[in-house]
Amino acid sequence: MTDAARRRAEALREQIAHHNHRYYVLDDPEIDDFAYDALLRELQALEATHPELLTPDSPTQRVGAAPLAEFGTVRHPQPMLSLENAFSDEDVAAFDRRVRERLGTGDDIEYVAEPKLDGLAISVIYRHGLLERAATRGDGEQGEDVTANIRTLRSVPLRLMGDAPAFLEARGEVFMPVAGFERLNADQVARGLKPFVNPRNAAAGSLRQLDPRVTATRPLELYFYALGAVEGGTVRDSHDAALKALRDWGLRTSPEARRVRGSAGCLAYYADLQSRRAALAYQIDGVVYKVDDLASQEKLGFVSRAPRWAIAHKFPAEEARTRLRSVDFQVGRTGALTPVARLEPVMVGGATVGNATLHNLDEIARKDIRIGDTVIVRRAGDVIPEVVRVDFERRPDDTLPIILPASCPVCGSRVDRVEGQAVARCTGALRCQAQRHEALRHFAARRAMDIDGLGDAVIAQLIERDLVQSPADLYLLDWEQLAQLERLGEKSARNLVAAIAASRSTTLPRFLFALGIPDVGESTAAALARQFGNLDALLSADATRLEQTPDVGPVIAANVAGFFADADNLRIVAALRARGVQWQEGEPVAAVALPLSGQTWVLTGTLPTLSRDEAKDLLEARGAKVAGSVSKKTNCVLAGEEAGSKLAKAIELGVPVIDEATFRQQLGLPAG
Ligand code: IVH
Repeated sequence: MTDAARRRAEALREQIAHHNHRYYVLDDPEIDDFAYDALLRELQALEATHPELLTPDSPTQRVGAAPLAEFGTVRHPQPMLSLENAFSDEDVAAFDRRVRERLGTGDDIEYVAEPKLDGLAISVIYRHGLLERAATRGDGEQGEDVTANIRTLRSVPLRLMGDAPAFLEARGEVFMPVAGFERLNADQVARGLKPFVNPRNAAAGSLRQLDPRVTATRPLELYFYALGAVEGGTVRDSHDAALKALRDWGLRTSPEARRVRGSAGCLAYYADLQSRRAALAYQIDGVVYKVDDLASQEKLGFVSRAPRWAIAHKFPAEEARTRLRSVDFQVGRTGALTPVARLEPVMVGGATVGNATLHNLDEIARKDIRIGDTVIVRRAGDVIPEVVRVDFERRPDDTLPIILPASCPVCGSRVDRVEGQAVARCTGALRCQAQRHEALRHFAARRAMDIDGLGDAVIAQLIERDLVQSPADLYLLDWEQLAQLERLGEKSARNLVAAIAASRSTTLPRFLFALGIPDVGESTAAALARQFGNLDALLSADATRLEQTPDVGPVIAANVAGFFADADNLRIVAALRARGVQWQEGEPVAAVALPLSGQTWVLTGTLPTLSRDEAKDLLEARGAKVAGSVSKKTNCVLAGEEAGSKLAKAIELGVPVIDEATFRQQLGLPAG
C-alpha cells in the first residue's frame, strides 16, 4: 500500500509542478483551476494519511514555515551590484562609445535590452535542483534570508526542471503587478489599514513579512534576469543564452527581453517599450541594456560596484493632469512661506499625489497658476511632487488668484516680502510655533548638536505645552517634565535628558550651524569658525569683516551680521552659554592653507564603506567645499553605487570622477 501511495504522491507532484510551470511561468495553462485544485487536494490527503511521504519540495509545502521573530542575515555568494543610470539618448551613446573603446572595436555591439522592473532585487539559490535559500539584496554583500516567503510565490519552482547545475544562484526582481496592487490596497482600506503608496513598496512590505502566511496572500511575482554564482553544468557564453538556460530550468524571465544591435538598437527598443509602458501589467522605471557576450562583460569589468557592461536607461519623470483645489502656505525654519498646492488626488508614477510644491511666488507668477486651474503635476523618483504648468486650454472662467497672506497662517505675525525677492517670510521668529519647531529640529540634528531622541513628536509636545521658547530652554528640562509627555516613558525621558546634557560639549562649527542662521550651512559654519577662531570675535565682526571669510559673500555676511544684531538671538546665545553649552575656542586659522581649500567636491551614490557624512567631514576638514550639484566649477566627483544624474553630468562636463578606493589613496587614508 505505502509503495503505491509513494508512487501516486510522486506522480501527483510531478503533474502539479508541470501545471504550475505551464500556468505561472509560461502563462499557458493546460487544465482549469478546478482540475488543478483536485490534484493538489488529492496530494494533500495522501500526505495527511502518510506523513512519511512528505518532502520539502512538495507543492503542498509552500506555506509550511512558522512565523519568524526576525530575518536571518546571509552573505551572497557574489556581491549584488547596482547599475549606472542614463537619462538621455546622449548618455546611452556615450555608454556605447565607452564599451566599444574598452573592447577596442568599431563594430556594433550586441546588447540584450530588458525592462527595468520596479521591485526588489532577489537572489535565489538552488542546490542539486532544490530551492535552498532566497535573500534580499541588502547592502549588496549581505541580505536578509527571505526563503520562507519566496517559497510562497507560485512562479518560483521548488525544484528545477532539466539538467540543473549542482549549485545555481539565480538573480531577479520581485514585483507586484498593478492589478494585484490595486486589489491589495482596496482590501487594506476595507480592513481599516493604511494603503501602500506604490506597487514597489507593497512588494517590499509583502516580502518582508515575518509570517509567510501573509506573504502567501500577496500577489507577488518574480522575473529572473541573471545568473549569479554557478557550479557544475555547461558554461554559457552570452547573456541571452543565460536567460534561455534559466527558462529551461523552469525559471521565469521577462518575455520582453530582446537582443538588439548597437546604441541605435537600444534606443529603438526604449522608444517601443516606453510607448507600451502604460499597457504593461507591472511598473517599470526604464530599460536595462547589457552587453550580450559574456567574455566581453568580463573584459569590461566593474567600476565602483556597477558593471561597465550594463546601464539603466531611465524613463523621464511621470506627469499627470489634475485640478488645483486650493493653496496653503507652510512656514519653514527661517520663516519662509512655501506655497503648497492642494490637488484633487491623482495617480502619478505609481503613487497617489494630493499635495505638490509650488516653490515660491515668483514661480507661481511665472507659470501663471490660479486656484481652480487644471495643472500638470510631475513626480520624479522620491522627490516632492511639483506643479509643472497650467493646462490653459482647460482654464475655467472662475479661477481665483493665489494671494500671499498678510499675516502668518501659524502665528499671525506680519509677513514680509523683500522687494525683488521670491521668498516671503513670517516675522514671528521663535514666537512662531512653526519656526520654533523647525529651529528645534535643526538644532538637535545629528550634524548640529546631535541630540538623540528629540524627534518631531517630542518637539511638537514641548511647543504645545509651552515648555521651550527657544533651543536654550532644552537645557532646563528635567526628566519628570519629559515623562509627562505622551508616549515617553521614564526610561526614554531619562535618556533624552542625558542626550541633551551630553550635547553641551560641542564644537564651534557645530554650534554655529545649529543656530540656524539663514544660508549658513555646515561648510559656511566651519569657514566662519576657522576665520574667527572664537565666538566673541565673530559676534563683534561687521559685514565687511565677515566677507573676508572664504565663501562668504555679501548676502551671507548680511545674514550673519543681521542675526547677531538681533537682541532675541543674542539673548538665546547668551542663555545657551550660561546653561553650559561649550566648545574649545581657538585662534583664527584663516592663514593656514588646507590641502583642498578652494576646491568644490560633489558626492553621489552610496560608497562601499564611508557614509556620506564621513566623506563630507573628511573633505571639509581638508578645506574643500561639498556642493549638491555638478557644474563646470566642480573639481572632483566622488561616486559610489547607484550614482545617477550627477555622475552623468560630471562625465558630460569632463569633471574628474573617482571612487572610494582612489579617494582613500589620495587622502592618505587606509584602504576601507
Ligand atoms: S541587472 C550587475 N536587470 O535594478 C547588474 N537589474 O540598479 C545587476 N533591476 O538592484 C542588475 N530590472 O533590482 C538588472 N532587468 C534588470 C533589472 C534590474 C530591475 C534592478 C535590480 C538592481 C537595480 C540596479
